[in-house]
Amino acid sequence: MLNKICVVTGAGRGIGLEIVKKFSQAGAKMIFAVDMNEQELKSLENQYPNVRPAKLNVCDRPAIAAFVDAVKAEFGQIDVLVNNAGITRDAMIGKMTEDDWDAVLNVNLKGVFNMTQAIVALMTENGKGSIITMSSIVGTDGNIGQSNYAATKGGVIAMTKGWAKEFARKGAQIRANCVAPGFTETPMTKDLPEKVLESINNKTPLGRMATAEDIAEGVLFLASEKAKFITGQVLKIDGGLTL
Ligand SMILES: NC(=O)c1ccc[n+]([C@@H]2O[C@H](COP(=O)([O-])OP(=O)(O)OC[C@H]3O[C@@H](n4cnc5c(N)ncnc54)[C@H](O)[C@@H]3O)[C@@H](O)[C@H]2O)c1
Repeated sequence: MLNKICVVTGAGRGIGLEIVKKFSQAGAKMIFAVDMNEQELKSLENQYPNVRPAKLNVCDRPAIAAFVDAVKAEFGQIDVLVNNAGITRDAMIGKMTEDDWDAVLNVNLKGVFNMTQAIVALMTENGKGSIITMSSIVGTDGNIGQSNYAATKGGVIAMTKGWAKEFARKGAQIRANCVAPGFTETPMTKDLPEKVLESINNKTPLGRMATAEDIAEGVLFLASEKAKFITGQVLKIDGGLTL
C-alpha cells in the first residue's frame, strides 16, 4: 500500500472505519475517510498521520467533483477507491414506500456510480487503480424484506463486471472488484433480534457473524498489489453461510 492515495466512503464507523485503519497500518500514503456524518468522523481526527477525514455525501455530485479536484491538485493521483457507504430501509414489498426505494437506490447504487465516475477519470489519466465496491450476500442470494437493498447490491456486481472490462481498455491497469460480506457486527446490524442472530450463527458453517476486521482484510487484499491480476470478481466473506 506504500505510496497509495486511497478514498474510502462510509468511513466513519463499522466496516469503513476498519478499512481505514487497515490501510493506515499497511502504510498507505494518505487515506481520505469520507462520510456524510461529521460526528462519526470525529473519532479519526488527529489519530493517524496518514488519514484525513472528509465530510462528503456520495449523492452530492458537485461536492464530489470539488473533492476529487482538490485531491488531484494536492497529490495528482487516487490509487484506491472503496465504495463502502450504504444504507438499509427494509420492508416487505407491500409496505415498502417509494421513498424507501429511492433512498436506498440513491446511496447504494447511484452513489457508487457518482464516486466511481469522478475518480476513474483520474485513475485513467494515471493508467492504474483499484476500485472495490461493497456488495452483500443479499446481492447474490436475495433476502426477505430487502427488495431495494438487494437490487443495489446485485446492481453493483453487474456494474463492477462491466467496469473490469471497460476500465482496462488501452492497457490501463485499473481493476474493479466487489466484496460481498455476510452478516457483520456493525451499527447497521446492531438491532437484529436475538432470534435472527442465533439462526444466522447456526446456519453459518464457521459458527458466527463476521467482524468488520474480517471484511477489511479482504478489501485490503483486493486493494493491494498482491491482487494485481484479479478483476471483475466478487469475494464473498460470509463464513460459508451461502454455501
Ligand atoms: N453490516 C453488515 O452485515 C453488512 C453485510 C453486507 C454488506 N454490508 C455493506 O457494507 C457497507 C458498510 O456497512 P456497515 O455495516 O459498516 O454500515 P454502517 O451503517 O455501520 O456504516 C455506514 C456508514 O456510511 C455512511 N453513509 C451513509 N450514507 C452515506 C452517504 N450518502 N454519503 C457518505 N456516507 C454515507 C454512514 O454515515 C455510516 O458511517 C455497506 O455498503 C453495507 O451495505 C454490510
